[in-house]
Amino acid sequence: MITIKSKSEIEKMRAAGKLAAKVLNYAETLVKAGVSTQEINDKCHEMTVKHGAYSAPLNYHGFPKSVCTSINNIVCHGIPSETHILKDGDIVNVDITVILDGYHGDTSRTFFVGNVPDEIKSFVEDVYQAMLIGIETVRPNAFFGDIGTNIEKFIKPKGYGIVRDLCGHGIGKKFHEDPMVMHHKQKQKGKRMKPGMTFTIEPMINMGSYEVATDQSDGWTVYTVDGSLSAQFEHTILVTETGYEILTKE
Ligand code: MF3
Ligand code: CO
Ligand code: CO
Repeated sequence: MITIKSKSEIEKMRAAGKLAAKVLNYAETLVKAGVSTQEINDKCHEMTVKHGAYSAPLNYHGFPKSVCTSINNIVCHGIPSETHILKDGDIVNVDITVILDGYHGDTSRTFFVGNVPDEIKSFVEDVYQAMLIGIETVRPNAFFGDIGTNIEKFIKPKGYGIVRDLCGHGIGKKFHEDPMVMHHKQKQKGKRMKPGMTFTIEPMINMGSYEVATDQSDGWTVYTVDGSLSAQFEHTILVTETGYEILTKE
């Protein structure tokens, strides 16, 4: 069942979204060659707590850290570590989810570390466009399936792989709620969007094949099977009477 948020819940979702965006903008200032992903984790956690919120990933189904940091061929759910040091030419997704006043805000971006080759930059920019195309699909009565259809129309001709095993999600009091939001074209159109629904759009796209696998030793880290680079952008979205509102904006 997809929950419809009340006016007062939407206010809380706005506040949570705004804080998540603020923490992500702060994370961006930390991304530099020589910095460990643990340092990014700790500083983002500190900022979250300072604003009276909690880091949603921490202890979520046993996830051990406060944010996800996914470098290069890591698709998502990368675990921050003292031993993961960013280096010139890397791309890194930082995924921030906060719980403020009982409600979640979830947002991520893929950042460049120092000098990144043009071909890779243009790939990452295409993934950002893919997320925007998904977001622009949102309006009352649109099908959830339209999101993936529109993203695929844009991405497929470029030869990149849209990850299928992970998806966007409803969000609110819970981190992951109904519905699942697919980023590739599917046979079923799914349910229709209604004002007051809140969910994420967060395409994960690989430069090569869409196939991914999960690290069996940590149980979390998702990587590309062919070793190709992967990028992701995520916003939390509200369906309004006329279209959409991006909640994860400062
Ligand atoms: N923030 C991720 C998402 O966009 C979920 C991370 S779950 C965790 O849905 F446990 F890995 F943190
Ligand atoms: Co999410
Ligand atoms: Co996220």
